[in-house]
Amino acid sequence: MRTVYLNGEFIAENEAKISIFDRGFTFADAIYEVTAVLQGKLVDFDLHLARLRRSLDEMALALPLDNAELLAIHRALIAHNHLQEGLIYLQVSRGVEDRNFAFPPAGTPPTLVLYTQSKNILASPLAEQGINIISLPDLRWGRCDIKTTQLLYACLAKEQARQRGADDAWLMKDGWITEGTSNNVFIVTGDGAVVTRELSRFLLPGITRGTLIALLSQHGLRLEERACTLDEAREAAEAFITSSTSFVYPVVSIDGQPVGDGKPGPLTRRLRQLYIDHALALTT
Ligand code: PDD
Repeated sequence: MRTVYLNGEFIAENEAKISIFDRGFTFADAIYEVTAVLQGKLVDFDLHLARLRRSLDEMALALPLDNAELLAIHRALIAHNHLQEGLIYLQVSRGVEDRNFAFPPAGTPPTLVLYTQSKNILASPLAEQGINIISLPDLRWGRCDIKTTQLLYACLAKEQARQRGADDAWLMKDGWITEGTSNNVFIVTGDGAVVTRELSRFLLPGITRGTLIALLSQHGLRLEERACTLDEAREAAEAFITSSTSFVYPVVSIDGQPVGDGKPGPLTRRLRQLYIDHALALTT
């Protein structure tokens, strides 16, 4: 049984109870973060905190805890659960009030929840085999840059991928790939450039994406920040996704058509290793 954090308390997961009037439940009026844990330590935690603050600001959601307090809660939760490798989820909702669309009165306390998931991130079969992708229209709302818990379309898309025997879906808007259901998209062109879409309201500014871009420049690899079409991705030399839950996963097919020779590409493998080396060195 896991220990979770709820509004100041570390308690058993089956004792953690939230009101049915919590706005996270009624309206998905909540934001979240997911941080990877390796060797019992947090990966790129400062960057996750910065994105958390940005999400809170964009939603005009007040969280009366400073970064040192949030770090202490994360560390305590790792210790309570003896977590060596996996994930920590943090969710903040706009608190509890009788159902009413407009915001509750100022001073209504937010609901803060954290929980852990144990996961083998480094030794992953999907990282070895690569993943199969289908494409679907991007029917999400217009602020995909905010990390809200309103993930309904991502759930529908993942389920469709599963039913069609694939691992995930890439979302398409006006003929361009925006991102995966819960990850950012990269391709490698025939002449070795790494392409990923520039940041905008259409996609989440992935922490793994940002770190990988920094690693590309450190290692003299060429980056192009621009959108690409599905045709370009299908004809690419390599393709991969990034996220805190996967780090880097090769993409070996798109809509049933192999990418490159249908196996994880050499640059993708190298980038996964570079990211892992970075993550192991840069833990908090
Ligand atoms: N998902 N795009 C979307 C829509 C995401 O939900 C995520 C993360 C990413 C990658 O962001 P990062 O590199 O910061 O993890 C991109 C998290 C992991 C999840 O909901 O499980």
